[in-house]
Amino acid sequence: MLRSLKVRHFRCFDSFESEFGDGLNFIVGPNARGKTSLLEAACILLRLQSPRVTRLASVVQHGRRGFVVDGHAKERHLQFYFSKERKKLALDSVPQTTAHEYLQLGRVVWFSNADIDLTRGAGDLRRRFLDFVCAQREPGYRTVLREYERALRSRNLLLKQSSPRWREIAAFDAPLVAAGERLIDARRRFAAELQAPAAAMHSAISEAHEHLHIEYVSGGGEDFAAELAAAHAADARLRQTTVGPHRDDLEFSLNEVSADHASEGQQRTLVLALKLGAAHILAAHFVAPPLLLIDDVFGELDLRRRNALLAALPKTSQKIVTTTHLDWMGEGHAHHVLRL
Ligand SMILES: Nc1ncnc2c1ncn2[C@@H]1O[C@H](COP(=O)(O)OP(=O)(O)OP(=O)(O)O)[C@@H](O)[C@H]1O
Ligand SMILES: [Mg+2]
Repeated sequence: MLRSLKVRHFRCFDSFESEFGDGLNFIVGPNARGKTSLLEAACILLRLQSPRVTRLASVVQHGRRGFVVDGHAKERHLQFYFSKERKKLALDSVPQTTAHEYLQLGRVVWFSNADIDLTRGAGDLRRRFLDFVCAQREPGYRTVLREYERALRSRNLLLKQSSPRWREIAAFDAPLVAAGERLIDARRRFAAELQAPAAAMHSAISEAHEHLHIEYVSGGGEDFAAELAAAHAADARLRQTTVGPHRDDLEFSLNEVSADHASEGQQRTLVLALKLGAAHILAAHFVAPPLLLIDDVFGELDLRRRNALLAALPKTSQKIVTTTHLDWMGEGHAHHVLRL
């Protein structure tokens, strides 16, 4: 449970401190007051990555070198300093050389209105969702992802040269395949595990009771090593690695019809079900349930869906919800309010 959060030089905040209760918390304030920023800071404190942007440099307050996020999760004191030049991590004031122990302390599921892009947008958004959850489910995932990205970058750099030297390029095939196969395996297992809880959550919050199906589509085919070997000609022509988990995707269907053409309401319900499914998986895997960070979602939903969503959130999870006003909030839900 996140008890307190302090930020410095983070997006619009010069410095700011806040406290949270267990159960349901609201961050209430007008537009552009920093609600999403605080929620993102909570995510970065626990996971060292943003659910919104790939590069943490973009959340450093304009004109500053770096940001600090600092807070207490249960009894542990977490501190993270980030600048382009260096990153510093401390647990209970003890500097950490690796993030291994730090990342075991808190898990997060992020909900936002922009999640609808998971159905409509480009594949990299779906891969980011896969990575965000898989990295929390399996401790070694982050390292393997880094290894894969490093081998891919090196290989692509060599392919860009005017006359690519295949002996050098092929030297990166083995590390690419080794890391790639582990990513494919972890993502495939997660997608399979997500199917049942996401479909159940989807029935719980949709009126139509359509059946949600999730399909993992491997960018490395059935046998990544063989696909990579067979793709040499295409790689040389396009001057990049054309197969591999960097081309992975997820496909969604409702009653066996692709969700690409579903209505906006259907797509919103679908992505809520994905996030709820992920929350239930993380809650089932670990003693401490995940922190749910919910940005701007409730204000957009009608009363029935709002109540269905509130009821579908894992009971034991701490929730932090941003909203511009609380008029819609009925009686009977105990909550803690932070006004900006
Ligand atoms: N790196 C940055 N440095 C300084 N200010 C920033 C930075 N990034 C974002 N901001 C500013 O922070 C302010 C708060 O943004 P934020 O998204 O947190 O607002 P919000 O309260 O969630 O608003 P809304 O209700 O519209 O979602 C905005 O005015 C934004 O321009
Ligand atoms: Mg916002």
